[in-house]
Amino acid sequence: MTGGVGRASAPGKVNLALWSGSRDDRGYHPLTTVFEAVGLREYVEVREITGTSSRLKTLVYRLPSDGGQPRLDSVSTRDFAPLDQPSNLAWRAVELLAPGASAEITVHKVLPVAGGMAGGSADAAAALAAANDCFQIGLSRPQLCEAGATLGSDVPACVVGGVSLGLGRGDQMQQLHQGTSAPGRQSRWWCLVFAEEGLSTPTVFAEFDRQWSENEAARSQEETQGKVPTIRAARPRAHTTPGVNLSGQVRATLMRPGTQIAPALHNDLAAAALTLRPELLAVGEACKAAGSLTWMVSGSGPTIAALCQTPTRAQEVAQAVSRLPGVRATTVTWGPGVGARLEERLPEWCAPPN
Ligand code: C5P
Repeated sequence: MTGGVGRASAPGKVNLALWSGSRDDRGYHPLTTVFEAVGLREYVEVREITGTSSRLKTLVYRLPSDGGQPRLDSVSTRDFAPLDQPSNLAWRAVELLAPGASAEITVHKVLPVAGGMAGGSADAAAALAAANDCFQIGLSRPQLCEAGATLGSDVPACVVGGVSLGLGRGDQMQQLHQGTSAPGRQSRWWCLVFAEEGLSTPTVFAEFDRQWSENEAARSQEETQGKVPTIRAARPRAHTTPGVNLSGQVRATLMRPGTQIAPALHNDLAAAALTLRPELLAVGEACKAAGSLTWMVSGSGPTIAALCQTPTRAQEVAQAVSRLPGVRATTVTWGPGVGARLEERLPEWCAPPN
């Protein structure tokens, strides 16, 4: 109990695998996805105030590609200010847990905005944990998860951390593997490449829908012409039905330690993200050429996550691709990390709110 102030952190994620079905009546896609919480975390402070309404300030940091501490980026912080609104997920998280209460909310942001790493969801997850402590609400982790699912599909994954399976629209969460608070022998190493410009998730899903309809149209034409044997249409895709289950074989592979997961990495949204940002294909290939084992688009992109054998190799990849066109920054991180947790104090690199 901290009495009137709560501090918490929550991890960003990469999707080790993602299968999507076609859009449903509510505008969502059934998803089977496996999240990995990474070591890169957002920090949120919630402080109870009186005599005035709630306010939110987001401080945006830049990650140096040499692996140094995050540095406050005043230009990005100023650009972010219009989003410091009651509609911001961190603000909504505090309002959800303590309706009508007044709080000063400070978000310390290192994850990319609209980057496919659940930055906004991590803010919400950390804000839920911080508000739970600040206002002494006493919700359990499963209750925080349930509350988080009402804010966004990825919030429960940021609350639970580790490696987790998301079904439904990605929000029905089941932890497969616990995370650790520091990297160890079983951890895996990622070079993350942040793009100059973000991609909105709905835009990527819309491009996915467009490609899906195109494929369906082509397939039904082939079927009409008798080129496709009907058995193909009936065969389940790798025994995974999006939103419903995950093939046992893929699940077993994704629960292995370190780089042994490589054969199971998969992302149905990659083609859509790379169609919208074609320059990122060259970035991914450059990661491979610089020594990563493999690379993928994280979630709806545009962040690229390159899986590496060692932290040194990940650092080399980060240096090699940091100046390519379309790249804003590169950093090295590891996974799986722990979910949302309370923090006694903020890290030294966190700047004061004003
Ligand atoms: O759940 P969340 O609010 O984070 O989703 C943001 C947007 O992403 C949705 O409005 C929808 O356009 C898209 N989305 C989707 N299918 C999902 C999850 C998200 O189409 N399973």
